[in-house]
Amino acid sequence: MDRRKFIKNASLTGIGIAAGSTILSCAKTEKNKASKAVVNNNNFPIAICTWGFVNANAKAGQDLDAGINALDAAIAGVALEENDLLNTTVGNGGAPDREGNVTLDASVMDSNGNSGAVANVKNIANVALLAKKVMTETPHVMLAGKGAEAFAYTQGFKKENLLTEASKKAWEEWKQSSEYKPIINIENHDTIGMLCIDKAGDIAGACTTSGIAYKMKGRVGDSPIIGSGLFVDNQIGAAAATGLGEEIMKTVGSFLIVELMRNGMHPQQACEEAINRIVTKSNTYKNFQVAYIAINKAGQTGSYCIHEGFTYMKYQNGKNKNITSEAFIKT
Ligand code: GLY
Repeated sequence: MDRRKFIKNASLTGIGIAAGSTILSCAKTEKNKASKAVVNNNNFPIAICTWGFVNANAKAGQDLDAGINALDAAIAGVALEENDLLNTTVGNGGAPDREGNVTLDASVMDSNGNSGAVANVKNIANVALLAKKVMTETPHVMLAGKGAEAFAYTQGFKKENLLTEASKKAWEEWKQSSEYKPIINIENHDTIGMLCIDKAGDIAGACTTSGIAYKMKGRVGDSPIIGSGLFVDNQIGAAAATGLGEEIMKTVGSFLIVELMRNGMHPQQACEEAINRIVTKSNTYKNFQVAYIAINKAGQTGSYCIHEGFTYMKYQNGKNKNITSEAFIKT
């Protein structure tokens, strides 16, 4: 990143600068005793992602180690899940809507504040890459439905039938009851959101999903909505969401987390506050899952969820760890 630009912005946003290093001031709670976080490029690169997507996070981490920039590493990482036919929540093999259509949503954000997104796209597996193409090859931020699909073919994407035999069978079984009640941590284990800091210390992210299983035709969730499923501010940090998109959108969760970090919160504390905004609205939260991950400019990370069972991956210094998130509801 341009250091002069960062210093200028840092003074505008209240981030402190010490000789030769950047100090992020964080809220001084018992939980977040690290009240000062030093930006040290030796901590980078780092990749984190929602859920236990070991291979996807390792791919992003290894690409970052090889010098790939944060955005391309995140897109390459999530593509592993988009191409995994056994993953019924992302990309090819994703669970269909109630009418049997597999439709995908995705967004990306780079370290210059650019973003791209696609929503409700059929027949294209690598929608995070397609979202990047929207960002780089069009004057727009989001394309949806048939327009997004037609644009994909102009960019050389291949048409694929995303409904596997296994997903079709599960959908046909679901149709027997047609009960719309996604199972927590299984059917709304639905999204890979990935946040990367590259060797230069720049932050970017990608978020991709087939959405909630057996959603209504035309339903779009939080993942392609910048600020809901994903938000990146290269001066501050980034956040990504998984779980029931409707609740994430109503609280603009990822943007909220980045803004809370801008105001001095540690990523952990910011994720907790974003969940707090949901659970204090009504007690319906007992029936759905929402989980967040976040990273700040210094590489500190956090996560929080409503129900136990959410984990996230963190790759740093060649090690790829699966970390159990704290939860609002403790059993
Ligand atoms: N979080 C993904 C979705 O609700 O579609």
